[in-house]
Amino acid sequence: MNVLGIESSCDETAAAVVSAPLRVRSSVVASQIDAHRAHGGVVPELAARSHLEALQPVLSAAVAEAGLVWADIDAVAVTQGPGLSSSLLMGMGAARAVSQRLGVPLIPVHHMEGHLLSFFLSPDAPSPEVVCPLLVLLVTGGHTALIRMNAPGDYQVLGRSIDDAAGEALDKGARLLGLPYPGGPEIERLALEGDSWAVPFPKGLPDSDSARQRGGDYAFSFSGLKTALRYYVAGHPETPKADVAAAYQTTVMGALSTRVGQALANEPGIKGVACVGGVAKNEFLRAGLKAVTTRFGVKLHTVPLKYCTDNAAMIAAVALLRDLPHADAVPAVSPNLQLNGLQLR
Ligand code: KG4
Ligand code: ZN
Repeated sequence: MNVLGIESSCDETAAAVVSAPLRVRSSVVASQIDAHRAHGGVVPELAARSHLEALQPVLSAAVAEAGLVWADIDAVAVTQGPGLSSSLLMGMGAARAVSQRLGVPLIPVHHMEGHLLSFFLSPDAPSPEVVCPLLVLLVTGGHTALIRMNAPGDYQVLGRSIDDAAGEALDKGARLLGLPYPGGPEIERLALEGDSWAVPFPKGLPDSDSARQRGGDYAFSFSGLKTALRYYVAGHPETPKADVAAAYQTTVMGALSTRVGQALANEPGIKGVACVGGVAKNEFLRAGLKAVTTRFGVKLHTVPLKYCTDNAAMIAAVALLRDLPHADAVPAVSPNLQLNGLQLR
């Protein structure tokens, strides 16, 4: 069983071939970051046009690098949402064309489920039966959630951000500091030279009843932090940017690690922690999570860096891990797809 994965939800055009049970044969990613950087963020029209141009060569490269021909593809898995609608349409159109031409199933996949299961793409990742129930910290440019994974397909959202995502907070914060897009890696680089305790920022850990209602017991909130940064930068032009970046990063990552620690203390039966999504590349966050998991005596599972940011291997992985090509009926999906109680915007 060879699954061709296609991903085009934001500013990466990606295709991959993953074979059963879960062997990545190829993973091709064409990034548009350079094109968007000049505009300080992702421009939807530019993204859609770039996807249109890149899809065909990226798809052909994924099949060729896998050492296969088109006839070897048994199913096509494609990101259905969430993401930029015009960009998603490009990937969906290509996926539909390939599946019809080859006469193979078309499997729509939720982008966040791709990130959730990306952990299993690591060559030395243990099987789901061994690691679950797993606590997954999902941190991307658009989402922040703490999820209990009982098995692939069986998720329970324990907490989520009630406003900005962690990656969004870093991207917007970087902009306020005059740093280029994407902001996460820029802040990480600058923070290495700064003093983490230079600026006392608000913690990003809301505990009101209303926050709990909207974001669960382990809710996050980063928009107040971003506002605090805006005021601080305006009022203290003399503070070195590296200090501000270090303090800001420490606050965002501290909130994430704190909630993981609270969940480990309260949620029964958790065997380990995984961190997935673009922000999972951050070394400061990885170190924080290592400390927390060591304290609780559970394993921290990391994802190879190339599978943290958007890629198509994770999209194909969803089809394989959930055995979707063999499902009687492909589930009806929409960008607001409901995943066993996991409603992701
Ligand atoms: O998962 P991803 O590629 O796309 C989404 O689904 O959103 O995540 C992109 C996010 C951006 O916000 C980016 O700033 C952040 O991941 N990011 C990082 C790092 N590398 C990427 N954040 C912190 N540290 C990094 N090294
Ligand atoms: Zn993503």
